[in-house]
Amino acid sequence: ESQTTSRCHPHDLEALRDFIAHLEPKPDGWINSSSSTDCCNWTGITCNSNNTGRVIRLELGNKKLSGKLSESLGKLDEIRVLNLSRNFIKDSIPLSIFNLKNLQTLDLSSNDLSGGIPTSINLPALQSFDLSSNKFNGSLPSHICHNSTQIRVVKLAVNYFAGNFTSGFGKCVLLEHLCLGMNDLTGNIPEDLFHLKRLNLLGIQENRLSGSLSREIRNLSSLVRLDVSWNLFSGEIPDVFDELPQLKFFLGQTNGFIGGIPKSLANSPSLNLLNLRNNSLSGRLMLNCTAMIALNSLDLGTNRFNGRLPENLPDCKRLKNVNLARNTFHGQVPESFKNFESLSYFSLSNSSLANISSALGILQHCKNLTTLVLTLNFHGEALPDDSSLHFEKLKVLVVANCRLTGSMPRWLSSSNELQLLDLSWNRLTGAIPSWIGDFKALFYLDLSNNSFTGEIPKSLTKLESLTSRNISVNEPSPDFPFFMKRNESARALQYNQIFGFPPTIELGHNNLSGPIWEEFGNLKKLHVFDLKWNALSGSIPSSLSGMTSLEALDLSNNRLSGSIPVSLQQLSFLSKFSVAYNNLSGVIPSGGQFQTFPNSSFESNHLCGEHRFPCSEGTESALIKHHHHHH
Ligand SMILES: *[C@@H]1O[C@H](CO)[C@@H](O)[C@H](O)[C@H]1NC(C)=O
Ligand SMILES: *[C@@H]1O[C@H](CO)[C@@H](O)[C@H](O)[C@H]1NC(C)=O
Ligand SMILES: *[C@@H]1O[C@H](CO)[C@@H](O)[C@H](O)[C@H]1NC(C)=O
Ligand SMILES: *[C@@H]1O[C@H](CO)[C@@H](O)[C@H](O)[C@H]1NC(C)=O
Ligand SMILES: *[C@@H]1O[C@H](CO)[C@@H](O)[C@H](O)[C@H]1NC(C)=O
Ligand SMILES: *[C@@H]1O[C@H](CO)[C@@H](O)[C@H](O)[C@H]1NC(C)=O
Ligand SMILES: *[C@@H]1O[C@H](CO)[C@@H](O)[C@H](O)[C@H]1NC(C)=O
Ligand SMILES: *[C@@H]1O[C@H](CO)[C@@H](O)[C@H](O)[C@H]1NC(C)=O
Ligand SMILES: *[C@@H]1O[C@H](CO)[C@@H](O)[C@H](O)[C@H]1NC(C)=O
Ligand SMILES: *[C@@H]1O[C@H](CO)[C@@H](O)[C@H](O)[C@H]1NC(C)=O
Ligand SMILES: *[C@@H]1O[C@H](CO)[C@@H](O)[C@H](O)[C@H]1NC(C)=O
Ligand SMILES: *[C@@H]1O[C@H](CO)[C@@H](O)[C@H](O)[C@H]1NC(C)=O
Repeated sequence: ESQTTSRCHPHDLEALRDFIAHLEPKPDGWINSSSSTDCCNWTGITCNSNNTGRVIRLELGNKKLSGKLSESLGKLDEIRVLNLSRNFIKDSIPLSIFNLKNLQTLDLSSNDLSGGIPTSINLPALQSFDLSSNKFNGSLPSHICHNSTQIRVVKLAVNYFAGNFTSGFGKCVLLEHLCLGMNDLTGNIPEDLFHLKRLNLLGIQENRLSGSLSREIRNLSSLVRLDVSWNLFSGEIPDVFDELPQLKFFLGQTNGFIGGIPKSLANSPSLNLLNLRNNSLSGRLMLNCTAMIALNSLDLGTNRFNGRLPENLPDCKRLKNVNLARNTFHGQVPESFKNFESLSYFSLSNSSLANISSALGILQHCKNLTTLVLTLNFHGEALPDDSSLHFEKLKVLVVANCRLTGSMPRWLSSSNELQLLDLSWNRLTGAIPSWIGDFKALFYLDLSNNSFTGEIPKSLTKLESLTSRNISVNEPSPDFPFFMKRNESARALQYNQIFGFPPTIELGHNNLSGPIWEEFGNLKKLHVFDLKWNALSGSIPSSLSGMTSLEALDLSNNRLSGSIPVSLQQLSFLSKFSVAYNNLSGVIPSGGQFQTFPNSSFESNHLCGEHRFPCSEGTESALIKHHHHHH
């Protein structure tokens, strides 16, 4: 009676039952529903519409499936699409899958699959092959196109493929996307790859490829995105970019490229993004901004460019993000930068620049400037306090490690959108002004390692971003490193995105005196609170237990007295804590995270506590009383 209840071909039904027997959990319809013999009704299955009941698509992406793949999948000989991406399937791919004559799309990305890819593959209808983000190893399956001439997409990124980048992909005449990033490939790009006239995306980043980038790359005339970053490429970048008229994105950071930016690249009208950070490029930086009408993002940080900053950069009318940090430029910010209207993100750290007054006077005219990083320049100059300076849209200002003299600049108070301010490692003096507490969006403040005096302004306890508001960083910042923390390892504390910064107040290593305000307990959103090496006095307010997000609290090397409030045991995220070198007395709390802090967190006080500095009779009984009181 019911054709519909048994449309599923018995051959496929058997194969699918065996397939699902190896996986958990079972998706809807697959096991015990009333239609359990009609596989065409099961979640993720599509059968052919011409009533043969053959399964043509099996799509169970993102279904939390775990287990193994069954050899029986090879029996689904009419299947066109096999998509099991984003699950937890492990072990190797059964050989039978590599012989499915009708398979067009194979997507097994983002699983825990492992092992090698067989040397014999016969998937004549294959168009898209995605095994990325697994644990495959062995040599790169560059023979995939030998029997699969229709292939357009090959994605093998984020695996453990190793050994030489072998030839073979040259047979994929229709190939458009080749993604091999984050493997362990060695050698150079094989010659036959340059046959691929239709290739528009080539991603071979984060491998160990070496040698120079071949001039033959010019044959890839459809390229839109070329990512060779984080490899060991060396030599000069070939001057062939006039033959890549579609190229929008060129990423080559962290290689050993030398020489300058080739003329054809510096004249590219199609290029949107150029990232050659962390190479050994040198000479004067010359870009033809009349030609580069699409350039939006330029990252040439950490190279050896020298001479003056290019005056014509503002003529790149779309240029928004510029990182020229860690080069050996010298001189001043050019006057022409007053007209840099598109500039939004600008980093010039460690570039031997002089005259901060002039630099700020010029850059204030950049109407769209939101992020300015000037660390390690202007050595020993005075930070201008010119009340006519005005940075309306500024969200991020980092001028650290400059040994600047002067005081907190009043002009900053008009930057109402400020989110992040780092003026650490300068020689600023005077009081921290109370208007600092008025910034509605400020969530990261580092004024450490200066010579500020006076009390901590009470207004800091009202910073809206740290008390109530959700920190919202609406625009994604470009993937540029902001700065590296002094004395910390390179990658560990290099923040690339504003939202990567933990909500912080760092005022350590100054000459601040007076109390730690009770009201600091209101800063529920604060993660790092560092007041070390000042002359703060009074007691530690028990209300600090209100800083419920706190991960690090450093009050060491001050003149604090009284006891450590037991309430601090409630700070369940606290992983770094120090009150060493103060005049504290009494009993060290022993609950919560306090069990994990080392003795050095408490040293040089008059503290005592179980297991560490043994308490005398008197204090021990005080501890017991205290506990009783609290329970
Ligand atoms: C199928 O099995 C699941 C769990 O094994 C159960 O929750 C569900 O009620 C069953 N459905 C039918 C129709 O029996
Ligand atoms: C199976 O699919 C048919 C239509 O293809 C539908 O009418 C029927 O309700 C489905 N049965 C179940 C149990 O989902
Ligand atoms: C049904 O469709 C499949 C694939 O689309 C085809 O191979 C097969 O010949 C068709 N069968 C009939 C009876 O039309
Ligand atoms: C596979 O399925 C996922 C959804 O689970 C989808 O995002 C992805 O685009 C599919 N892959 C292909 C190649 O269509
Ligand atoms: C191509 O397919 C044939 C037939 O199945 C097979 O013998 C051969 O090994 C395949 N070649 C490659 C390079 O996978
Ligand atoms: C691949 O990894 C497996 C373990 O997952 C290991 O046994 C095997 O030797 C590796 N093969 C190669 C070629 O590295
Ligand atoms: C890898 O390629 C290099 C040249 O790029 C060659 O010297 C070396 O012998 C190759 N290694 C293997 C294992 O094929
Ligand atoms: C690149 O293109 C030129 C001219 O079309 C051709 O002579 C050369 O063989 C090509 N190189 C490769 C490696 O395909
Ligand atoms: C810069 O490149 C070197 C290799 O040339 C690499 O070891 C280092 O990690 C890179 N540094 C950064 C910050 O990317
Ligand atoms: C800069 O580009 C413009 C527009 O493409 C071109 O006319 C001019 O000759 C180029 N200048 C140089 C020095 O290459
Ligand atoms: C300045 O920023 C605004 C808003 O983000 C944008 O619409 C405008 O095009 C930018 N101006 C320039 C010259 O890029
Ligand atoms: C600043 O640049 C110099 C030379 O370019 C380099 O040696 C030094 O390590 C850099 N300092 C920092 C903190 O990046």
